[in-house]
Amino acid sequence: MAEQRPVRPRFGFDERGLGADAVLRELDEIARREDGVWADGRCSGTIYCGDRAVYDLSGQAFSRFSYVNALQRDMCPSQTRFEAEIIAMTLDMLHGDAACARGLEPCGTIGSGGSESILSAIFTHREWARAEKGIDAPEMILPETAHVAFDKGAHYFGVKVISAPVDPKTTQVDLDFVRRSIGRNTVLLVGSAGNYPYGTIDPIGALSDLAVEHGIGLHVDGCLGGFILPWGEQLGYDIPPFDFRHPGVTTLSADTHKYGYGPKGTSVLLFRDKKLRRHQYYVRPDWKGGMYVSPGMGGSRSGGLIAATWAVMVALGRAGYLEKARKIFETAFAMQAGVKEHPELRLMGRPTFCFSFTSDAFDIYHVNDFMKTRGWRFNGQQYPSAIHMCVTGPQTQPGVGERFSADLAEAVRYAQSPPAPVPKSGALYGGQGARATAANIDMGRLRERLKDFLDSTLEQPRPTEG
Ligand SMILES: Cc1ncc(COP(=O)(O)O)c(C=O)c1O
Repeated sequence: MAEQRPVRPRFGFDERGLGADAVLRELDEIARREDGVWADGRCSGTIYCGDRAVYDLSGQAFSRFSYVNALQRDMCPSQTRFEAEIIAMTLDMLHGDAACARGLEPCGTIGSGGSESILSAIFTHREWARAEKGIDAPEMILPETAHVAFDKGAHYFGVKVISAPVDPKTTQVDLDFVRRSIGRNTVLLVGSAGNYPYGTIDPIGALSDLAVEHGIGLHVDGCLGGFILPWGEQLGYDIPPFDFRHPGVTTLSADTHKYGYGPKGTSVLLFRDKKLRRHQYYVRPDWKGGMYVSPGMGGSRSGGLIAATWAVMVALGRAGYLEKARKIFETAFAMQAGVKEHPELRLMGRPTFCFSFTSDAFDIYHVNDFMKTRGWRFNGQQYPSAIHMCVTGPQTQPGVGERFSADLAEAVRYAQSPPAPVPKSGALYGGQGARATAANIDMGRLRERLKDFLDSTLEQPRPTEG
């Protein structure tokens, strides 16, 4: 794996500017170095496609519209078309037709990523419940495995979270708990397809029944799985329906910037019916700057991202997505077979393209420590400690699955008699941070330390350091 060297920081403008050639040379060098982290397939998730031809197309499409603001619809009717077609393709894949068959008008919006889609779904259901049911102390019921963006949304929008436990064996949400927790103020249930920690799928059919029975919303978080599970189902894998075929599903998120293979910065939020989407809109007719309308949280939006996402989806088509999905599922199941060879390791639930494993025999982070020395970059998880591997395009290269199994066999031997009792690696979402998971750690102090970490990622150099 390439060594990540810190770059000398710039604390102000260059007096004369470097010129395009020098800047591009610098960018080429940085990108080459950083691409080395994932290019050989030893990095979990985050780089979903890894196919240079797709990245080139996306970059070229972006460059033609990078300066376009999708807000100014009269100047760029193309953006209305691109957005409509991205949403139509997503609805096609996720059975919007089932909602049409019930006389509804399924539709969507495009936001900046999975978190925005989730925040928007929470906001929309809160507004809907206030307008339609007079609920002003809204609650939502979340599986513990739901992505943390739901907690973030609850924090932003003042929605109370009821956290539902999951069955430790299946990792699926405890339906009895959900059923018992539904009350007068419940506005939203949540299920994932699949969840981030284990890649497993909640029982969406049963959650849908509850949502219909109580007349409440159900958001299915398909941010991660929305653009790959449907192809897996078509390929014949055992993947239960999780989309609008269930009548209780009111919103569904699917990230174009993950397995949709578009550039980072877009996600689709689908609505079962147009009427619900209107609760997401912001309009202000009496602003001095003019009558203001906005479908979602963003103001100005990049026409480049929308054009590039559209270009990739149209260029790949059904056959392109199916072919990439076939390779990903085959690789993921081969890698899981490598895990199953070791009785000391345990897969969590019944995963498909994304899986996690733990150990009842030793601290699984010893395995992670060893795998790191072999260039692997997994995501560490906690409660219980586990290693998470989200299989993406780069792992489908020849030999990567075999190398995983061989390195894992050595890692298990290492973990059986590690050099020190406490492993070095730990659980930091989106990174491989220092170990900070001691059971008795003071949560208040830990929160402050995590904010210190964020400060360090946002630090500007000062002139004296230049
Ligand atoms: C299941 C799930 N939901 C939501 C998100 C959040 O997506 P984003 O990072 O694009 O905001 C993720 C990210 O990995 C995810 O795995």
